[in-house]
Amino acid sequence: MRKPIIAGNWKMNKTVKKAVDFVTELKKYFIGYSSMEIVICPPFTALSDVAKVIEGSNIKLGGQNMYWESVGAFTGEISPLMLAEIGCEYVIIGHSERRQILNETNEIINMKLKSASTYRLKPIFCVGENIEEREAGKAEDIVYEQLSKGLADLSKDDVSKMVIAYEPIWAIGTGKTATPEDANAIHLFIRRIIGNLYNKQLASEIRIQYGGSVRPDNIDELMSQSDIDGVLVGGASLDTNSFVRIAKFKREIEK
Ligand code: PGA
Repeated sequence: MRKPIIAGNWKMNKTVKKAVDFVTELKKYFIGYSSMEIVICPPFTALSDVAKVIEGSNIKLGGQNMYWESVGAFTGEISPLMLAEIGCEYVIIGHSERRQILNETNEIINMKLKSASTYRLKPIFCVGENIEEREAGKAEDIVYEQLSKGLADLSKDDVSKMVIAYEPIWAIGTGKTATPEDANAIHLFIRRIIGNLYNKQLASEIRIQYGGSVRPDNIDELMSQSDIDGVLVGGASLDTNSFVRIAKFKREIEK
């Protein structure tokens, strides 16, 4: 059984005060709620204060990025040790905004994935094609390349702790969502690749999230798909009502 995982990626939003007010309110909605994992990924500046507010609650903490070294002369970077010390269980790695705007390559992402595993942080490893690649019929090739290069030299055990997030770039922050069937098809493809790179058991156990304009009005359909195990939410995770509605999606509530 793959436990659903709903993660909020706040990106570069919310001051410390706003973040603390937000989670103080948010945690009330998840008291005694354990049928899925809820993860929030605030900006680095708010992690420490948010960690204190959510301590003992059902909300888990994630970083939005990390450097691959643990310590040293890397001005402006944050290490996996620092994230772990603050109480992060997860870390987003390979988000398309970092690939596109900050020029992260598959090789850099591979170093980060290896390092996160060493420090027992669970990566939310993002993959996904852009619009040109999709229109050229290359979505699967791109996802295959990102997965095989990103996971190079990682063991089955390392990968078993990861979550993979399929985020088609053309759907991020654009209001366009992949149809639930199209998203599910890529999720099945990702499972097949994991099966080929590792084994069938890992392929059936690994959790795969969808991301890209997830909202309260499309969550139920997305989560009704066989191979969508959760969502990585950007814009809609910044508002309490919409994030709570997404986390309390229909299939789960009606169980
Ligand atoms: P969005 O972002 O929900 O605002 O499209 C998703 C993401 O970038 O993870």
